[in-house]
Amino acid sequence: MPAQHARIQSIEEYEEAYRRSTENPEQFWADIAEPFSWRRKWDTILESDMVEGHNKWFKGAKLNITENCLDRHLATRGNKLALIWEPNDPKTRQIRYTYRELHQEVCKFANVLQNNGVEKGDRVCIYMPMIPQLAIAVLACARVGAVHSVIFAGFSANAISDRVNDAQASVVLTSDGLNRGDKQIPVKRVVDDALHHCPSVRRVIVTEHLGWPVNMVEGRDVWLHEELEEVEKTSPAEEMDAEDLLFILYTSGSTGKPKGVVHTQAGYMVWADYTFRNVFQVNENDVYWCTADIGWVTGHTYLLYGPLLSGATTLMFEGIPTYPSAGRFWEVIDKHSVSVFYTAPTAIRSLMATPLDNVLSYSLDSLRVLGSVGEPINEEAWHWYYTHVGKERCPVVDTWWQTETGGIMISALAGITPSKPARAGLPLPGVQPVLLSQEGKEIEGNDEEGYLAIKYPWPGIIRTTYGDHERCRQTYFAPYPGYYFTGDGARRDEEGLYRIIGRVDDVINVSGHRFGTAEIENAINQNSHVVESAVVGYPHDVKGQGIYAYVICREKISKEEAIYVEASIIETVVAEIGKIARPDKIQLVTGLPKTRSGKIMRRILRKVAEGDTSNLGDTTTLLDPNVVDEIIEGKK
Ligand code: WT7
Repeated sequence: MPAQHARIQSIEEYEEAYRRSTENPEQFWADIAEPFSWRRKWDTILESDMVEGHNKWFKGAKLNITENCLDRHLATRGNKLALIWEPNDPKTRQIRYTYRELHQEVCKFANVLQNNGVEKGDRVCIYMPMIPQLAIAVLACARVGAVHSVIFAGFSANAISDRVNDAQASVVLTSDGLNRGDKQIPVKRVVDDALHHCPSVRRVIVTEHLGWPVNMVEGRDVWLHEELEEVEKTSPAEEMDAEDLLFILYTSGSTGKPKGVVHTQAGYMVWADYTFRNVFQVNENDVYWCTADIGWVTGHTYLLYGPLLSGATTLMFEGIPTYPSAGRFWEVIDKHSVSVFYTAPTAIRSLMATPLDNVLSYSLDSLRVLGSVGEPINEEAWHWYYTHVGKERCPVVDTWWQTETGGIMISALAGITPSKPARAGLPLPGVQPVLLSQEGKEIEGNDEEGYLAIKYPWPGIIRTTYGDHERCRQTYFAPYPGYYFTGDGARRDEEGLYRIIGRVDDVINVSGHRFGTAEIENAINQNSHVVESAVVGYPHDVKGQGIYAYVICREKISKEEAIYVEASIIETVVAEIGKIARPDKIQLVTGLPKTRSGKIMRRILRKVAEGDTSNLGDTTTLLDPNVVDEIIEGKK
């Protein structure tokens, strides 16, 4: 009998798996990797240097991840639904693909890529709405061995050109436009603006979605539907090395420029499949829905790769939770009999704020497992989700992970390991979390708090930051040599369950999306009125954290002028990064609290933004303590 992908089914099996994964990690992962389709097996399981940040998994193995996502299932699941697409407008047509159909679409798209000169190793940037062609495009890149770099379709033209240039992409995939609730956005026009500054791009392939007229640049732009007209329906998958690049995904850190997180073929595949299967406990006839956009890592690992590797049915939704009404999520769940549902706390909180009838008028009988991701889920949101969506019968898995970890690291396994409000829970097998003191000492025992780090590599660990390994080493491995540093603070409760507290660096988490304060400051400083700015996060009811910007202007600004200046600053941020990074509050100030060495004391700015000025701590080291009074007085 061929080896099967087993699943952990009891707490004892979890403990046994966890023990094996730490006692003999290599044998543990070799067993898990066995049942995939390999063109050639590995020579070594793991080569690791956690000081330099060099990790190689399954070295010497040859494979193609799409053979594992698609071809491998054809014999047994050819007619099973692989992908269900639910459009923005519920009155328009949904689209469904069986594994056989999806396989064919991916092969055809792969042929289009090759006909347009895409070769193994080329970087392809994808800036597309949540339509089936996006999922197909990503898989087609993987099939021909191109490195995909998906850019969330809410980013601005400037953000696109930065990413395209960093990756030196030769091809961009896009669409005419996108739907977002009752709005439509001319995506191709944004790409056109971006590409004025991107000499590496020689081809743009455009998917027709809204049927809008677009400007097609002669010699550069082609329509997907025309390219598809005469292609073959099959496409042999490119043979990839285990450590060849699979994708780049840009994410923000504490320094100004977003970095390209790199994941590779074999380790990511094994990790995506293992974590998906065990955390969500998906059965053969489940319908699984992850509401994340493919533009983020959650969409990569848990909308696309994880479910398809496991042979599950995955649902992809074009729209937003509040269109045409705040019952849309629940309507989709009933319509498609969704049994496993994975969303973000920010979505839950925004729906919680609407009348309860919006959820109570749906049956939600099909639901079996609920998931949460992207930011700490507060107890109130957890209880609302558990009670009104899960009807107190569905376990909630609060999954902690990061773009850099490739997949879920700390989470309950649904219905198996403990799940408590506001706790991510226990580490997955293969994950060895530790809490570190500021000096880098491991903190033993329970009921303790510290910096969250990981002591041993796992197959989905970040391989490098594209084009700049030093940056990867500096950010993740240099802070505590020998450990992967997460940038999060965490508490281990009395029972050993992990509770994630939040970032300990200059990163803010807005609606589950990461932004560096320096990145937003750089954007604000592009505005011609601005001399200097300082950005901090503050607690926000729906977004988790909001963006609070303190800005010093060149000239004195009257109250009347301030409205225009603030609007112009917001416009600048939207142009530099995108709407998702708009400051929620802007306060014009004449000075910032700086130490004598010129360092901004963000601690004080955070306190003021939070509205807690009772205890600002020691301000005696400030160059000019009066600035603080002015800032407190001017607070909104
Ligand atoms: C940061 C990673 C994980 C994919 C989506 C975000 C925060 C993520 C949780 C959670 C508390 C969480 C952390 C982490 N975070 N999940 N379940 N509980 N915090 O990926 O953009 O790479 O952000 O999101 O602060 O470091 P990302």
